[in-house]
Amino acid sequence: MNADLFEGLPDLNLQQVCLDDGAFLLRGFAKNVDTALISAIEKVVTQSPLRHMITPGGFRMSVAMSNCGQVGWITDRSGYRYGVIDPETGRPWPALPETFIDIARRAAMRAGYENFLPDACLINCYEPGARLSLHQDKNERDESAPIVSVSLGLPAGFLFGGLSRTIRPKRYQLVHGDVAVWGGPSRFNFHGIAPLLDGYHPILGGKRINLTFRKAL
Ligand code: SIN
Ligand code: FE2
Repeated sequence: MNADLFEGLPDLNLQQVCLDDGAFLLRGFAKNVDTALISAIEKVVTQSPLRHMITPGGFRMSVAMSNCGQVGWITDRSGYRYGVIDPETGRPWPALPETFIDIARRAAMRAGYENFLPDACLINCYEPGARLSLHQDKNERDESAPIVSVSLGLPAGFLFGGLSRTIRPKRYQLVHGDVAVWGGPSRFNFHGIAPLLDGYHPILGGKRINLTFRKAL
């Protein structure tokens, strides 16, 4: 076989991409549990509905969000924080489904983070045009735990930069079933999602749902 023919083409067997020190993209890692995750998401959002939160600066976020776990990430005019009560329902956030904990633990382990036990999961729902500007995840108390991010539905452009905003982020396409894990030296790397493009996914239709698991407490 002439290897030159394949030069520059992605290695189809290469399922694990290193994004930075301590950061990995596990291609298709959650694919075989996709329907279990999606039915668990549906249950969670009937109890704590998706909503567009307001940033401290007064802007309505284009991504619709909800949470499950002991605490949930919220933003409003008074700032970003974790809270035990869903401000929309006045009740605690729904518990983390077992399937969520299991996939988060297994993905973290694959990336080299043993014993990751998430206590919070932010559910992000993107429709075409929705985006998440470059940010660091730094409202969590436990800095030793990684972030585990599961992508479902429409593909999205994931921007993954460095510890300073001035480091130009690289762009990766995240597709249904992909899992990104970052921690250790890249735990506070800047990251974001480029505006979602129109499309149709056989399970989620015109949407992308992302789950980010954190150890917040
Ligand atoms: C996040 O940074 O919280 C979410 C990233 C994503 O939607 O993939
Ligand atoms: Fe984030």
